[in-house]
Amino acid sequence: MSPRRGMLSNTKFLLFFYIVAFSTVTVWITYLYGFSCEATDKPPPPAEHSSFLEVQMLKAKLKHYEDLSEKSIQSKGEVNNLPFIYAITPTFTRPVQKAELVRLTLAFLHVKNFHWIVVEDSTEKTDLVGNFLQDCGLPFTHLHVKTNEQFQLKSTDPNWKQPRGVDQRNAGIEWLLKAHREEKLKPGVVYFADDDNTYSLQLFREMRHTRKASVWPVGLVGGLRFERPIVSSSGKVTGWYTVWDPSRPFAMDMAGFAINLSLLTSHPEARFDIRSRRGYVESSLLTSLGVTLSDLEPKADNCSKVYVWHTRTEKPNWKQEVKLIAAGRPSDPRIEV
Ligand code: UGA
Ligand code: MN
Repeated sequence: MSPRRGMLSNTKFLLFFYIVAFSTVTVWITYLYGFSCEATDKPPPPAEHSSFLEVQMLKAKLKHYEDLSEKSIQSKGEVNNLPFIYAITPTFTRPVQKAELVRLTLAFLHVKNFHWIVVEDSTEKTDLVGNFLQDCGLPFTHLHVKTNEQFQLKSTDPNWKQPRGVDQRNAGIEWLLKAHREEKLKPGVVYFADDDNTYSLQLFREMRHTRKASVWPVGLVGGLRFERPIVSSSGKVTGWYTVWDPSRPFAMDMAGFAINLSLLTSHPEARFDIRSRRGYVESSLLTSLGVTLSDLEPKADNCSKVYVWHTRTEKPNWKQEVKLIAAGRPSDPRIEV
């Protein structure tokens, strides 16, 4: 074989090798690339596929909220053993009332073993509150008591002029005592949940295992970002972080404590005192229950977390409505707001 022929067959072999290698790589790349294109250029999934995904997402969300509301609860048996939460809410007729009750319901519906005692400041139960409670999905008791005229706020009064919601909370306490005497109540915790605050789900997890009286910070109150009980390194409440009158026995907002139902039933005379000085309403109940500072159980990470806010709702601007009323053309009163 001449050297030239040998070179020719070497070249042919190399050419053949290149062609085979190139085609293999091209086929391989097309194969891989084809798949990745398929992933990005995929048409939207058929309708039944997306509803399947939606169901999965909803299931995940539901689980998240269940975890959030009561982390440790797994079985029905465990739920039955969970102490109840009896929340007493004073409420009164005003333009924002229904919206306030809706906001509360949206939190309370996530709380297990919850009983809502709603007490209207009115001479009779209103249809608005009655119908709302029937439809809200929560176990409830609907009461009413009108604040004694002597203690009623006049429309021109600043709202601190008189204590608010006191007779209503006391009516809630009296209902609990009666139901307890009639053996209708499961063990649990009593909380005074005003209708203008914002409640997180963590709050109820914290208060549920109150033995006697528990306390925690409240946000947006007392002219501060928050008020809170001061807690020592050994976990005892030693005083109050607040600017306005920290010398009060319990210098905290109504939203900042809960008590065990048994404390109430063992002190059946204990009530909020409507004659209390400004800022002393909370102290009046806790003092009449015989609670002392050393009894207090600090919650919310030794009172370092805010789980409830004294939000208060802005009064709506109704100046056009007022003009219409003056002109004898008020908006349709059959439409409930
Ligand atoms: C603050 C505290 O947050 C209250 O817990 C405390 O009772 C009150 O001060 C006080 O020192 O008397 P504040 O936000 O100023 O409360 O009062 P509101 O929220 O206007 O009233 C407290 C509760 O009573 C609410 O649930 C409200 O709906 C109800 N309320 C108010 C009535 O039932 N009748 C009224 O005429 C006014
Ligand atoms: Mn309030």
